[in-house]
Amino acid sequence: MAETTFYNLVENLETYLEYQRDEGVQRLEVDRAVLTALAKEPEAVPVPPGELAGVEAAPIPSEFKSLEEITAHVSACRNCPLCQTRTNTVPGEGNADAPDIMFIGEGPGADEDAQGRPFVGKAGQLLTKMIDAMGYSREEVFIANVVKCRPPNNRTPLPEEMEACLPYLWQQVGLIKPRVIVGLGATAIKGLLGKTAGITRLRGTWQEYGGIRLMPTFHPSYLLRDPSKKKEVWQDLQLVLKELGKEPPPRKK
Ligand code: URA
Repeated sequence: MAETTFYNLVENLETYLEYQRDEGVQRLEVDRAVLTALAKEPEAVPVPPGELAGVEAAPIPSEFKSLEEITAHVSACRNCPLCQTRTNTVPGEGNADAPDIMFIGEGPGADEDAQGRPFVGKAGQLLTKMIDAMGYSREEVFIANVVKCRPPNNRTPLPEEMEACLPYLWQQVGLIKPRVIVGLGATAIKGLLGKTAGITRLRGTWQEYGGIRLMPTFHPSYLLRDPSKKKEVWQDLQLVLKELGKEPPPRKK
């Protein structure tokens, strides 16, 4: 089975089960063979020789003076194995001068890796529409990710990859000083808040990151797979607008 399918399967299954639980479903029929397979100790997967070649964990300065310094540091970063497979680093882009909103996703995909820009693929087009529906342009907000390099086959970033990269995001947020952060999807929220509660529980509830109010919501990729969840995301984005003292603009025909 391809790695990407496996990771997406786990993510979809997790979100689906959380959703069922939150809807009050108490019982699910599961085939005994599935339970037996799940109960087995997973076999340790050996790290293929050469996987860590070129990875040199180097300390990330704790006080960057500017976003440009962070971007330069990120582009030379070799702190985790994602550096071996990236084409471009994707530090983030947009209004870095105290924008109303900073959107934070999980990590670059193929299009983002090719262009070095966040959210420019299909999910990015949907994010752009969401930003537009809120009455902003992409240039007026800041868009970044928890990890700055593409995980191979678009798999979910591993906890240790997020941990290695998060000092950059933390300092980006400190320099950019957005009024509100919107966290996109389960993985970004786990990385940002370290919470085990799932996205279906946390979405629509105010959280905090670095002293800034953070609204978790579903990831645009999830909305592409299940457009029925757009309603919930729009509710979350309306809470963000309310926090900013803004009204959504009239809908375009
Ligand atoms: N998904 C993300 O989480 N980030 C991107 O930049 C693109 C897709």
